Amino acid sequence: MTYQLRCGDLADIESVYRLNRESFAEYWSRESLFSALESGYDLLLCENEHGIAVAYLLSMTILDEIQIMQISVSPDNRRQGLASRMTEALIAASPDACSMTLEVRASNAAARALYAGLGFEETGLRKRYYSPDANGYREDAVLMTRKLC
Ligand SMILES: CC(C)(COP(=O)(O)OP(=O)(O)OC[C@H]1O[C@@H](n2cnc3c(N)ncnc32)[C@H](O)[C@@H]1OP(=O)(O)O)[C@@H](O)C(=O)NCCC(=O)NCCS
Repeated sequence: MTYQLRCGDLADIESVYRLNRESFAEYWSRESLFSALESGYDLLLCENEHGIAVAYLLSMTILDEIQIMQISVSPDNRRQGLASRMTEALIAASPDACSMTLEVRASNAAARALYAGLGFEETGLRKRYYSPDANGYREDAVLMTRKLC
């Protein structure tokens, strides 16, 4: 299977909505995705050879800091290097950036392994950061940073 990366925009909302529902229990609504893109978030899409979106990376750049807001790879397309490829492509397209940061659920071992492998370091912990689950439990967020300059 071959994959292509391209920048996305508001016309890709439906694909992003589908992919974010596949990956996150607390997925964003179409309206939230729309507002994010309208307010300046950047979208990188990954499509398979049939032109179907299989992954995306949503980010926000403030001055010289890139924040990864969401990264999602469709379950059937995982462990093929797509999240790594999108992250490195975003860095390559941002020569003036000095750091890349993100928050990840403490229990998200796959994502933490991904980022550690990409050279991110754990630089903070936000206690009880996420919304409560059905039992009232609020998970911590681990802050991860990769220095780029
Ligand atoms: C986390 C996620 C984005 C990884 O995407 P991916 O395209 O499968 O990641 P890659 O193929 O680039 O993986 C690179 C490395 O990360 C690590 N990794 C990725 N998934 C892993 C898993 N399930 N378990 C352990 N390590 C994992 C491995 O070291 C992997 O290298 P390897 O396959 O050679 O062993 C994907 O599993 C996903 O969409 N999960 C749901 C959404 C999510 O959690 N997003 C992140 C929120 S911060």
